[in-house]
Amino acid sequence: MKIGIIGAGQLGQMLGFAARDLGMQCIFVDPSPSPPAAACGEVIQAAFDDKAALSTLAENCDVVTYEFENVPVAALKEISDRVPVYPPPEALLHAQDRLAEKRLFTGLDIPLPAFRCVDSMADLEKAVAEIGLPLVLKTRRLGYDGKGQFVIKTAEDVATAWQQLGGAALIAEQWIDFDYEVSAIGARNPSGDVISYPLTQNRHVDGILHTSRAPVENDVLTRRAEKYLQRLLEKLDYVGVLTLELFVTGDQLIANEFAPRVHNSGHWSIEGAQPSQFTAHLLAICDASLATPVMGGYAGMLNLIGAIPEATRKLQTGNLHDYGKEARPGRKLGHITVITETMAERERLLDELERSVT
Ligand SMILES: Nc1ncnc2c1ncn2[C@@H]1O[C@H](COP(=O)(O)OP(=O)(O)O)[C@@H](O)[C@H]1O
Ligand SMILES: [Mg+2]
Repeated sequence: MKIGIIGAGQLGQMLGFAARDLGMQCIFVDPSPSPPAAACGEVIQAAFDDKAALSTLAENCDVVTYEFENVPVAALKEISDRVPVYPPPEALLHAQDRLAEKRLFTGLDIPLPAFRCVDSMADLEKAVAEIGLPLVLKTRRLGYDGKGQFVIKTAEDVATAWQQLGGAALIAEQWIDFDYEVSAIGARNPSGDVISYPLTQNRHVDGILHTSRAPVENDVLTRRAEKYLQRLLEKLDYVGVLTLELFVTGDQLIANEFAPRVHNSGHWSIEGAQPSQFTAHLLAICDASLATPVMGGYAGMLNLIGAIPEATRKLQTGNLHDYGKEARPGRKLGHITVITETMAERERLLDELERSVT
């Protein structure tokens, strides 16, 4: 099998390593000169919507997928009559626009924060009056790692928030005082088989994923999350891995957003589950059968952001993944996964790792 992958960042790299184990070959499209996925396949250096590059994928690959959600949908539609493109572009349309995404959740009866579309200062003032404070103002498009967001805590913040984000299409969202955050990761193949991973608990710092822990041992939340995930997968006639991010308050789940792709919060599955999210994505898009993931213990993952300190490498705790990227503040450069027999041991190792990066 030959897999075309749009985007050659670390997610592409991890897909590429999983593909190699399955005896598959990958061809990537990415504008950067030496992206992480160059370690595991050929990279066509071109814009993500470059017609010639996408045609090369369509002609040479059995299936085309992507590793990030800002791929121009029109470009995918142009090749989708020549080669299967999974996940379906329809899913991308919803994931690229927070308003469309929230309407999708509403239509599927998936609980979500109160929200209002904001196109003017008057809209924003009305949203503040109706939703109340605090609330978070977000750009509808192109946000990631907490970028394009402003938390409005007091009436005085309203003008500053508008100054910073006004001009772009926005959405105002009720602030959820959550107990913790989780992600539900699942996969579906074209035959309609669905698998899901145990719930993962996520901690974000400054809007960026910091640590993930799996499994969340809570049957009520797990069943609820699987139900919501299933509704999304079926509604979108989805193929591949999908990640749903949720806030937990008591035994309620409130949907935040979904990503039509493998996800940072599922990186622990490389060592912690069989199949990993990367293998599951490849199997799903190739219409292979999907087995329920088997856990190998308690999993913990720490992101390495901005730098990979020598002290962290020296610890030799867990399994280090270095994406080979140039260091830059706020940039995800790698991660470390620990798999343990007990929860206490996982916490001990994560503590040790966290101390080494701060
Ligand atoms: N409505 C909200 N209530 C509480 N926290 C929020 C809310 N929206 C976002 N956050 C916090 O900010 C993080 C990033 O926001 P998110 O909408 O997931 O954007 P991104 O696309 O950058 O991941 C969330 O994981 C959560 O920690
Ligand atoms: Mg998010």
